Formats: sequence, C-alpha cells, structure tokens
Amino acid sequence: MSPKIQKVRKAVFPVGGLGTRFLPATKALPKEMFPIIDKPLIQFVVEEALAAGLEELIFVTGRGKDSIENHFDIAFELERTLQDRGKLHVLEEVRACSLEPGCATYMRQQEPRGLGHAVWCARHLVRDEPFAVLLADDLILGGRAPAISELLDLYYQEGSHVVSVMEVPKEQVSRYGILEIEERRGLVCSAQSITEKPQPEETSSRTAVIGRYILSPKIFPFLGRQILGSNGEIQLTDALAATLQEGTPLRGVYSSGRRFDCGLREGMVQATLFCALQEPTLEPSVQEILREWEQEMQEKTA
Ligand code: G1P
Repeated sequence: MSPKIQKVRKAVFPVGGLGTRFLPATKALPKEMFPIIDKPLIQFVVEEALAAGLEELIFVTGRGKDSIENHFDIAFELERTLQDRGKLHVLEEVRACSLEPGCATYMRQQEPRGLGHAVWCARHLVRDEPFAVLLADDLILGGRAPAISELLDLYYQEGSHVVSVMEVPKEQVSRYGILEIEERRGLVCSAQSITEKPQPEETSSRTAVIGRYILSPKIFPFLGRQILGSNGEIQLTDALAATLQEGTPLRGVYSSGRRFDCGLREGMVQATLFCALQEPTLEPSVQEILREWEQEMQEKTA
C-alpha cells in the first residue's frame, strides 16, 4: 500500500429503503431482515465486511428498522434460555451475530431520498477517511474472497474509487449504474463515465455496478449538492460521475462471486435455492422435491 493511501476501516450499510417491491411483507419487517433460509440479508453483508477487516460499521436506517439494531445486539433473555436448555450450538450462532461493543453506529436517514442521500447522511461518522459501502440487496456468494475484499485490494494499489461490476443482459441495463469502459485488463476496468439506469438504447455498455463500493470522502461535497437524478432521487452514481470528471479515477472489479439480486422476488428465490443446495442437511430433500415437481409438470404437459 502506498504510504499516501489511507486504510479503509469504515463500512456504510444503507438500510433505510422502504422495500416496496416486497409489500405487504415489508409493511412491518425491514427488507434487510428477510432471511435466506435462516440468515438475514443484512447479516451476510456484515459478515462480508468483517471478514474483509472493516472495523467500524455504520448503518443508515429509517423508521421501522429497529429489528436490524436488535439483531446485532446481545439478546440476554434468549441467550439465557438457550443456555439453560443446553442448546449450546444455537447459542453459539446467536452470540456470533452480536457485534463487538462500540463498533456499530445506527443513524436515521429520515426520508428515503435515494442511495446518494443515504451515504451522505453518514458523512459526520465517516469524516475524512475512505470507506466501503455495501448494499444488502446484492448478495454475492462463493467468490475467491469476500466481494468487498476484491475491491480493497485494488483500492490499496491505486487509491481510486472502486466498484464491483458484472455484465448484464442489454434489457437489464436500465436497472443499474452502468460504466462506459475505457480499458479492461483482466478483471479490472477503468471507467470513462458512469450513468444511473440508462435506457438500453442510450448505452452500448453492459457493465453494471453491483452494490459494493470503496469511496473517498471527496464524494461528500458532490452528494451534498443534493442534485436529483434518476427516479427523482439523489444518486450515488451521479456523484461518482462528477468526481470522475474532476479527476478521481473510477475502477470496476468484475466480481468472482455469484451475485443474487435480492431486491427482486426472483433473486430471493434463487439465493434461497442456491444456499439450500450448498447446505448438506437440506440439499438431498431439496433435490428430491425438485425432481418430483419436474416429473409432475412433465406428466401434466404430456
Ligand atoms: C442501486 C444503485 C445502482 C446499482 C444498484 C446495484 O440501485 O443506484 O447504481 O447498480 O444499486 O444493485 P437500486 O437497486 O437501489 O435501484
């Protein structure tokens, strides 16, 4: 690491969204607490951040999101009961979720005004340090390393803004921040520009940002301008585009993991199936039921 490049210690988790795609489930339950089998989405990204060596976790929450805070707290009565009942294995898992004292901060976004606004809300906690942003909707599993570590490796070489990317089908570009690529070398690309949710006819690129970012605090003044972008929201992508124009390079790293879009119903189903098939205690019964259903379908259509 060049002596000029600061260590990344802080991770921001924007978790204030309303989760409208999942109503009515999200009426009283934060989307980030939806489980993939028995682990909430937010726990996956928190574990990813901790595995990558990030130390200070900043959750940008909203009203009705208290269960996220509770999830990472000590559940004294529950732990006591599990201990008394000798359920030591479960107790260990429950304990493993509680975060080390003093390493998590929760603050409210107050109004859902977009991802850029959520990140800007964390500015007084991030202060003058580079930081990571992890979106719980983007579940990235099975890579060579935790997805955010792949970005950190490049950040430490270059000190630029770094995002995770993947190629998406043309008809899906309007769901993502899209990078126009200047140059690609192996798994790393340099962006010429970045646009939030372009229409397929507005870009020939299919290189999409998937919910992992390493950012410099230089991004905050741009976010602070509160310029409304796509969908009438303050977009992180627009601030990345502005910092790129002013000379902060933006690199993309093609993630080696498998990414599930858990902001969509089909992504949740796929992630659940993927995890069930990886889990030795579930895999045989899931395979069996899938075979049975397929046979039933074939019989019906025969
Ligand atoms: C957000 C970002 C977008 C990014 C996407 C990845 O969009 O604004 O640039 O590509 O996450 O999931 P959202 O999914 O919140 O609409």
